[in-house]
Amino acid sequence: MESQELKIVKVRPEDNHTLLEIGRQTFYDAFGSPHNTEENIHYYLSQKFTLEKITNEILNPESQFFFALYKDKIVGYLKLNSGSAQTEFIKGNSIEIERIYVINIYQGKGIGKYLLDNVIRIAKEKTVAFIWLGVWEKNKSAINFYQQNGFKIFDKHRFMLGSDKQTDIMMRLDF
Ligand SMILES: CC(C)(COP(=O)(O)OP(=O)(O)OC[C@H]1O[C@@H](n2cnc3c(N)ncnc32)[C@H](O)[C@@H]1OP(=O)(O)O)[C@@H](O)C(=O)NCCC(=O)NCCS
Repeated sequence: MESQELKIVKVRPEDNHTLLEIGRQTFYDAFGSPHNTEENIHYYLSQKFTLEKITNEILNPESQFFFALYKDKIVGYLKLNSGSAQTEFIKGNSIEIERIYVINIYQGKGIGKYLLDNVIRIAKEKTVAFIWLGVWEKNKSAINFYQQNGFKIFDKHRFMLGSDKQTDIMMRLDF
């Protein structure tokens, strides 16, 4: 993959339908059957991935969404939260990666790393002290990916996927 053909662009409010589609698709591909029941996945998608919710999230000044483009095609996306948009309160000046997703067939080609490098650049511009995220304990490949990129485990939290009580591993990268 030629890195000069990779780009990151900010998601605009008028991109809401596209973002919803890629958000639903990548979530389903990552966490659908056999990892979770259809019922729990559909419930979660119907609660979290609605056009209204996604549009409001794009409009929130403390959240930022980005698309990763390869040869001008969307191959992944990223959601960052700062200030009160962060999904947990963690002491210190931080930024949260709430979502980082690469479309299945483009995984393992450096796009996730490219998105992460951009998060680090943005975090440094905002002069935050650390980046943090929550990842499902069973999502070993993502945990590996974060560890290889310097993130350290610092906590665990409960996460509900429909009726299933799951554990999220909290990880952070300090500067
Ligand atoms: C986790 C995720 C974002 C990582 O993105 P990615 O694009 O697959 O990651 P990268 O390609 O940058 O790196 C992954 C691996 O590919 C390798 N790689 C990177 N560039 C490569 C290239 N050009 N050729 C071959 N392998 C390469 C990396 O070394 C890395 O391997 P390692 O883990 O053994 O070190 C992505 O796999 C994903 O979307 N997964 C499903 C959704 C998900 O779990 N999201 C996170 C929720 S918390």
